Amino acid sequence: MPVDGPVPWQLVEHTAAKHNIYRRYLHRWFPIILSNDSWNEATYAEGFSGPGIYAGGEDGSPIIAVRAFAEEVSNLSKKANFLFIDDDQRCVTMLTDQLTRVFPQRPRNPGLMPVAVRKGKCEDLLELELGKLGAWGSPILAVLDSWGNAPVPYGLLQRIANNPGSEVIVTFKPQHFVRFVDDLGDAADDVFGGDRTWRQASVLPSSEKRQFILTCYRNALETAGFRYLLDFELVDRRGDTLYLVFGTNHRLGLEKMKDSLWEVDKVFGIGFRDPRDSQLETLFEFTDPELSPLSRLLRDRLRTHGPTRVETLRKFALFDTVFRPQHVIDALPPLVHSGAAELGDGTRQIRRGSVIQLTTNTQHATPR
Ligand SMILES: C[S@@+](CC[C@H](N)C(=O)[O-])C[C@H]1O[C@@H](n2cnc3c(N)ncnc32)[C@H](O)[C@@H]1O
Repeated sequence: MPVDGPVPWQLVEHTAAKHNIYRRYLHRWFPIILSNDSWNEATYAEGFSGPGIYAGGEDGSPIIAVRAFAEEVSNLSKKANFLFIDDDQRCVTMLTDQLTRVFPQRPRNPGLMPVAVRKGKCEDLLELELGKLGAWGSPILAVLDSWGNAPVPYGLLQRIANNPGSEVIVTFKPQHFVRFVDDLGDAADDVFGGDRTWRQASVLPSSEKRQFILTCYRNALETAGFRYLLDFELVDRRGDTLYLVFGTNHRLGLEKMKDSLWEVDKVFGIGFRDPRDSQLETLFEFTDPELSPLSRLLRDRLRTHGPTRVETLRKFALFDTVFRPQHVIDALPPLVHSGAAELGDGTRQIRRGSVIQLTTNTQHATPR
């Protein structure tokens, strides 16, 4: 759907934070992928690229990507393809101009760095254009930044998940997504890979709908074939949110994306939250994070899985929450000191090898 209003538009806070995460991740992704002996080329692709610039002159995501490549690895001889798709002609024209203006000297010759900017719908063009570039069969990082008002085809996500070394970032505004899901008929099931579970959202209280749909979407990406997922909401001070889900089959990718997330500078005035936290608490403090949401998630995990080693909880934090493994050691003492949990050996000294379990009173209590 073409942009409703002028192009370019103002950069809002969570877009700035999102760009900061992309920038940090891309500065890691290009060198890791292009110095890996298994690959001779890699592709960065956007299905909803935008104009490459914001009203205040800030870079859009396509420029951020090309800049990260130019700064990190333009000296390597491997091929890097770039593909940008948008269905608004103004964005396509502006992005083409921006790329020429910002990079008057191409970082690489066109043979080693093909850049394709195409006008059309992501759902019609992305897979096809990746084929024309010869991208399938080598790593692809696909950024699908749809605003939530365009469906991201599930078949495309499946194909990316099953393509070697490939990863996806999907972003949308949850409120758009809820509206989009409410408005569409059976075709909307395709977004969830044909699974109709998300429709149960219609009988939930409105406060629970969004969280439920985000969980269904995460599950759908897992079913599409992504082994590791990191999903979270970026929240600005007014409470406006942007949902971001990252899918990869590589643990290193997950770790690097999580590092990028936790490095985001708090000057952006943006917090993030784990959609699985029952209280949906927003974390604004990145250097000294508020760990109560993790304590609640750990308590829920102990309730469903029984006595668990701290090392296993560290893996749970890495793979199933927005938190880092090292946060676990600090999130457990409040549970022990409040009497909600105890150590298997009866001590109060929490170590990686310790086993931790809920106390009998807490086993059946409702999570708060
Ligand atoms: C959120 S903006 C992209 C922002 C950009 N990725 C960035 O971070 O700088 C979404 C873009 O998607 C485009 N768009 C909306 N529906 C589309 C569709 N079905 N296919 C392709 N582009 C679409 C809009 O024209 C808009 O430029």
